[in-house]
Amino acid sequence: MRRHNIPTGSFRVFTNPNHAITFCRTAPYPLVIKADGLAAGKGVVVVDDFIEACKSIDDFMTRRKFGKAGAKIVVEEFLCGREVSVMCFSDSEKIWALLPSQDHKRIGEGDSGPNTGGMGAYCPVEFVDEVLMREITSRVLAPCIAGLASEGRPYKGVLYAGLMLTENGPKVLEFNCRFGDPETQVVLPLLKSDLAQIMLKIANHQLPGPSKKTQKPPPDAENRLAKKSVPEEKEDTTQERAEPIYLRDLVSDYEYDPESDAATAAEHTLEWRPGAAATVTLASEGYPGKASIGKKISGISSKSDASSIVFHAGSRKINGAWVTSGGRVLNVTGLGPTIAGALSAAYATVGKISFSGMQYRRDIGRQVSDRKIEKAVK
Ligand code: GLY
Repeated sequence: MRRHNIPTGSFRVFTNPNHAITFCRTAPYPLVIKADGLAAGKGVVVVDDFIEACKSIDDFMTRRKFGKAGAKIVVEEFLCGREVSVMCFSDSEKIWALLPSQDHKRIGEGDSGPNTGGMGAYCPVEFVDEVLMREITSRVLAPCIAGLASEGRPYKGVLYAGLMLTENGPKVLEFNCRFGDPETQVVLPLLKSDLAQIMLKIANHQLPGPSKKTQKPPPDAENRLAKKSVPEEKEDTTQERAEPIYLRDLVSDYEYDPESDAATAAEHTLEWRPGAAATVTLASEGYPGKASIGKKISGISSKSDASSIVFHAGSRKINGAWVTSGGRVLNVTGLGPTIAGALSAAYATVGKISFSGMQYRRDIGRQVSDRKIEKAVK
């Protein structure tokens, strides 16, 4: 993101827990501490003070709660604003943005408790209008895809951007090189275009070979591409020398320019169904900690239902019966003309399903219903 000027929160990277603790002693709170590796959606904590920061650094780096994933951490500015997820398809040259959606990451209602892999989502998001989508496309998605290609890593597939809409414009919280979960359970049901055709088009696209003059990878990319064993990354000490240490990012200088956007806009040819979708995650007792599994699931109808879809995740069929087999067990997606209608459909189906210790949030999309912005989504 730094190399390609993609807006994100100020951050610093640490491989030494003592350095991280020294930094956190004088940093402004709250802070976000992220494990660098994969931690099943649980490697991000928001800490309110130095004591909490030390505990997380100890958990990640010293106790290795998430194994090697915590050997390197990112300590990041806490961004305020509204969170939104925007995914796009890309053939490495062009992008097709998907509808914006909103995830609910905390386990508890009112966004309380620890982070999870996602407890629910809805789509579309009423506060992301066309102009904001263009800004997200041109400031985040396009520079990321172009940056990857220019460094010798052309990216074909789905790019996921988790964003915070701050008063200084959209900033990236995370990128994923995959569909988002549970956002996909609300975005794809609204996609009218043929998903298989889109994927084929992306996969089969004959790309022009990268021009060596204009697309020379930087030294670190050459290392990654040419050598089998990737050298261990050094701690980013340049950041530690920067003063003042904790720089607030500059005010966004984005101004919408319809002409320069024309090429990107022309590629937005995905077709969408009218209406909205909302999904509710049904999780096992104990999740996001150690989940209690092997519980019989009842109430999943085998008949298809036009207004809801049950997506399986942590479930297994044993001798013809569904049982739980993971933390997040099912996602129940409802469809309707509005977010409120979609939520009613989802919760009506949730009401029929049960398993011992089942937990779910009853406030998915509540902000939308509470603001009474329920207009029919055209
Ligand atoms: N919803 C966030 C993710 O898929 O990682």
